[in-house]
Amino acid sequence: MTKNKYYLTTPIYYVNDRPHIGHAYTTILADVLARFHQLGPQAQAIFFLTGLDEHGQKVQQAAEKRGLPPQVHCDELAGRFRDLWEKLEINPTDFIRTTEARHQAVVRSVLQKIYEKGEIFSAEYEGWYSVAEERFITETDVQSGAFRDVRKIKEKNYFFRMSDYQDELIKHIEKNPDFIQPAHRRNEVLGFLRQPLGDLCISRPKSRLAWGIELPFDENYVTYVWFDALLNYVTGPGYLSDPDGFKKWWPADAHLIGKDILTTHAVYWPTMLMAMGLELPRTIFAHGWWLTGETKMSKSLGNIVDPLELVNRYGVDAVRFFLMKEMVLGQDANFTVDLFVRCYNNNLANDFGNLLNRVSGLIGRYFDGMIPGPDDNKTEEEQAIMAEADYGRVEDYINAFRVNEAIDSIMTLVGMANAYMEKQAPWKVAKTDLKRAGMILYTATEALRVSAVLLIPVMPQKTAEVLDILGATGSGPQWGGLKAGTKLKAHDALFPRIEILTE
Ligand code: MSP
Repeated sequence: MTKNKYYLTTPIYYVNDRPHIGHAYTTILADVLARFHQLGPQAQAIFFLTGLDEHGQKVQQAAEKRGLPPQVHCDELAGRFRDLWEKLEINPTDFIRTTEARHQAVVRSVLQKIYEKGEIFSAEYEGWYSVAEERFITETDVQSGAFRDVRKIKEKNYFFRMSDYQDELIKHIEKNPDFIQPAHRRNEVLGFLRQPLGDLCISRPKSRLAWGIELPFDENYVTYVWFDALLNYVTGPGYLSDPDGFKKWWPADAHLIGKDILTTHAVYWPTMLMAMGLELPRTIFAHGWWLTGETKMSKSLGNIVDPLELVNRYGVDAVRFFLMKEMVLGQDANFTVDLFVRCYNNNLANDFGNLLNRVSGLIGRYFDGMIPGPDDNKTEEEQAIMAEADYGRVEDYINAFRVNEAIDSIMTLVGMANAYMEKQAPWKVAKTDLKRAGMILYTATEALRVSAVLLIPVMPQKTAEVLDILGATGSGPQWGGLKAGTKLKAHDALFPRIEILTE
């Protein structure tokens, strides 16, 4: 059953550098899902939260490198993130920064409460610490050689009794198959939970790291960055500050994350919520990585794709379309300019854009630019096209996080309409039977309109253009929204073909 609200989140991004395609991807995905959930007869109220993770060592080091106080550094980069989201047509309900007072208040109050419940204790700890990963690691980890910047540390710290919740968490995952998706990630977490779960170190001594939220019960320490960051998901909808808002939105319907931050979200976060006495999110969905060649796109590898450059060259809609169509949610996907151009030319220039050109050209020539009216007699092919224009199917794919298949099914409708035009050749029919030619053009134009409505979440700008040309702005996804007699507006090619120079 669909509820009338939908709360979804992206990870909050470290402000250590400019955002790349990997960050843009999750945020676009959330935006596309949010817009789909607002479309159609089952439209839901949406809370879409994104933001920035501004504390911790990575950010402190990035600020130091630029010779700036961390807050100044964060403020500057926050502007860049906001600008980019705007250029990408991303419309979050709320943009949270962990340095904001509203968030610091939540973190401190949660810590205090859990501390008073006896769920946080202090202990002297001696062990290996990975500076790069900002966490304590085991002897086996050290031997694996997978960690850089490893040192032995002996210090007092505070720990959250995460181990107390291991059994409850396993039971919850087993009882709720949709809690961790896709299924292979769920199995991964269950596998991890077969080992005894340790307690979670939630403090860092200020002598080692000063940039964080001070513990309410010990001024010599700041909060471990993940304990701080995860709480953003409850700060956003108003935990402890807006009881009505919070009650309306919590629990989150979907936390979208990359596969590299699965443990923090599927183990740390639910146990924290259990200690706080709050419901667990309905779904944690881990997507794969964007790769360039065979390797993960990342700042340290220097192989990042700048989303702004792409947008400036090809337009925001094409970038959103490619990212959503090309990645099967849950698997890795490859980013190359060649794949991008091919996807653009085939789907947007040849299929979607071309359908508009054809119908508007012919309606111009044979009907004075006025949309002809439909006919009551429908051929089998016309009925098949109407059946394909089915919002319900798109909605099912979206609810199952199968975004690429949702897009494929819309593009099938576009493809059918193009094939229908070729087969029916209304430019020939018009010479002998203008009424029949009108029916053909009406059907193809209506298929174009429905596909444009269904693609609004993916391509908000170009679909608005198409609907404006058709005089159908604000129309819904049900068949029959075109108004006969409407004068089509003049237009340029929607997606001019990209001529690629192959080296
Ligand atoms: N700050 C933490 C998240 C805290 S959430 C409470 C963090 N930030 S991050 O900026 O390093 O990464 C944010 C997200 O970007 C992660 O989900 C990560 O998987 C995603 N990506 C980073 N590089 C990526 C690709 N190359 N491809 C797809 N997503 C990737 O982790």
